[in-house]
Amino acid sequence: MIDCCIFCQVYLLSMWCTTIYLSLTIICLQYNACNVNALENGLALKPPMGWMSWQRYRCIIDCDTYPYECISEWLFKNATDHIVANGYKEAGYEYVIIDDCWMEMERDPVTQELVPDRKRFPSGMKALADYVHSKGLKFGIYEDYGTHTCMGYPGVINHMELDAQTFGKWDVDYVKLDGCYADIMDMNKGYPEFGRLLNETGRPMVYSCSWPVYQEEKGLMPNYEALKKHCNLWRNWDDIQDSYESLNKITEYFAVNASRIQPNAGPGHWNDPDMLLIGNYGLTVDQSKSQMAIWAILAAPLLMSTDLKNIRPEFREILINQNVIDVNQDALGIQGSRLRVECKIETWVRPINPIINGAHSYAVAWASKRDDGSPCVYSSKLKDLGLTYDKGYEVTDLFDEDHDFDHIFRTNTNITVRVNPSGVQFYKFTPIQ
Ligand code: GLA
Repeated sequence: MIDCCIFCQVYLLSMWCTTIYLSLTIICLQYNACNVNALENGLALKPPMGWMSWQRYRCIIDCDTYPYECISEWLFKNATDHIVANGYKEAGYEYVIIDDCWMEMERDPVTQELVPDRKRFPSGMKALADYVHSKGLKFGIYEDYGTHTCMGYPGVINHMELDAQTFGKWDVDYVKLDGCYADIMDMNKGYPEFGRLLNETGRPMVYSCSWPVYQEEKGLMPNYEALKKHCNLWRNWDDIQDSYESLNKITEYFAVNASRIQPNAGPGHWNDPDMLLIGNYGLTVDQSKSQMAIWAILAAPLLMSTDLKNIRPEFREILINQNVIDVNQDALGIQGSRLRVECKIETWVRPINPIINGAHSYAVAWASKRDDGSPCVYSSKLKDLGLTYDKGYEVTDLFDEDHDFDHIFRTNTNITVRVNPSGVQFYKFTPIQ
């Protein structure tokens, strides 16, 4: 529709064009095919990277007892400071995102605006956004499409325009819109509507939608074409919890449902398997590498949710591993998928840059789901991984730069990895010139 308009402005005087324009308009209206309400905010051309409070800090609101863990302006300023000071910003982490539990239970009785908790956010959200921006980072916030957020704070449903305007006024850069206490049948209309209202503020805000999770868990298949059009990212499935078991359930969902999920990812619109657990209580170092590698294959948003002031160095290193982040952020934006499972070794493959003589490079992760105590030796022929470039590939070990591969790997060459129980080996294959 918009394109038709520009076209017609140029040839405004031509009757021929006017006729075509009118016909196209009718077709557009009839089939709802023209995208006047689409997001088109030019954001999230790569999977968003940042820090989000929920996974680690949930809804801790007792700041008297837990001053360094409660959802408060201190927590987000502190996370901002650590992102800047400890190499995360340099590695690409950008958004500092407040999840649930930041509001007063009631809206302002006069203006009906959302009110940040007066005790925990005494300076207000605009001041917090200013602080985050002053450090060169971006500011995100959480709301819910329904009557209430999942933790019972006010939702946007009857105040959508006001809330979008409020977020614009506070200089928000990223909105996560959850879907508790909402009618799943309304979501196909309501989520796009809120996206449109965000756009109308004139402030570019990444729009993260939880719409598909709530529909799919009730047996309604999400409309991915609509999601791609209206949201920058969306939560496909269950909440991640702080355990390897939960991580595996999520990766299994993404593996099994890849054929309908994978094609929807691309620059500006991403599937979101949920936050990184790395640095918390539930994952070992090997399991953390495994999450980071699979999230890179899946072109997943990289949203840390951990205590950056106390994180152990080995976890920090995983979070800021530039080789792995580069795979995650690959500009082609093609989501990878699980190719096979054999002897409980999963092989995950993603086509990435550079493309040389027409042949893609590939990131390949071998993730072990074994628990038999010693590393498992596993071999695959390159051509069985889909790597068919006849001149062959050079190989880089993305977690171990000192790992020296002394020869070119051809399509018939066997690549042999030794994978720790619940660990991963993660390599990049680059076609030779
Ligand atoms: C839902 C979401 C989580 C988190 C909580 C907050 O469960 O899926 O990511 O935002 O709500 O209440």
